[in-house]
Amino acid sequence: MPERVAVLTGGGDCPGLNAVIRAIVRRSLNLYNYEVVGLMKGWRGLLEMDYEILDREKVSGLLPRGGTILRTSRTNPLKVDGGVKTIFENFEKLNLKALIAIGGEDTLGAANQLYAKGLKVIGVPKTIDNDLDGTDYTFGYDTAVNIAMEAIDRVHTTAESHNRVMVVEVMGRHAGWIALESGIAGGADVILIPERPFEIEKVCNIIKHRHEHGRDFSIVVVAEGASFHSDGQTAGKLILQDADVDAFGHVRLGGIGSFLAKEIENRTGFESRVVILGHIQRGGSPTAFDRVLATRFGIAAIDLVNKGSFGQMVALRGNKIVNIPISDAVQKLKTVSEELYQVAEVFFG
Ligand code: F6P
Repeated sequence: MPERVAVLTGGGDCPGLNAVIRAIVRRSLNLYNYEVVGLMKGWRGLLEMDYEILDREKVSGLLPRGGTILRTSRTNPLKVDGGVKTIFENFEKLNLKALIAIGGEDTLGAANQLYAKGLKVIGVPKTIDNDLDGTDYTFGYDTAVNIAMEAIDRVHTTAESHNRVMVVEVMGRHAGWIALESGIAGGADVILIPERPFEIEKVCNIIKHRHEHGRDFSIVVVAEGASFHSDGQTAGKLILQDADVDAFGHVRLGGIGSFLAKEIENRTGFESRVVILGHIQRGGSPTAFDRVLATRFGIAAIDLVNKGSFGQMVALRGNKIVNIPISDAVQKLKTVSEELYQVAEVFFG
């Protein structure tokens, strides 16, 4: 009987997940003769024994497909009653050699805690937010940035035609990577990110200055997690969709774009509109960069399984795929540096 390796996808989906799954299955079948068990809906699949065997046929045609054939959830096994015990029992029942967890800070945070308890797990970093530490890039991010950049390009022509301020709200809960890089690439006039709480008045001044010096439209790119100071307060205020938190303690963000567009219009008198890109940034086909990165990550992950290097996460450093302890990746988030933000600031106003 072949040895068995399980794979799961957890947290928000992102383009490239299917490419990782395909690479794991193809490498497993070609080289190691492992049987690959696909766990459905993240950690929930292992808790509920919801799985399917992934053979060559199942992964055929997956490379360009967005989303994840394994589905996903934000289930936190450490928050489920008896969850840890069930994870270990079901790991044994399925007769697994190892588990590959593909996820961001939450999924890999859980993987790290379970590894500390003895689970044979390997991590693969994914998130469109690009905020996972220890890797230069996560797959999904390049696709999201390109989608956002294209949207900004489109918004440009309509902003110009109507002499409007267009506020484009992009994803990015704690880190402003998508806002920053899509904003630089799209030629935004102001970029607002979670790392840098902003003052509404200063944003308005930048726009007024621009409009007094020959331009009559502006593009503002704002990350959903950007916060603002209002009138002398020191703590940044966030705009939330509602106060509920998920199993990992995250609130639902969103709304800063609409709020800001109204404030800009009221304070400057310039007609303003908002575009909220939302999940469009996470949907659809991955870019070539993400397909290749996801493929390289998948191959490296199954190679680590073969070596028995558990508790490790594959990562991109420069152009090399390396492995680092999962614990190193989940200690803190990778945020936008001051140096990079200063590049964007050159083009403000
Ligand atoms: O973590 C990725 C991400 O897309 C964040 O940018 C965003 O805040 C969040 O997921 C949205 O989550 P959901 O799909 O659950 O609304």
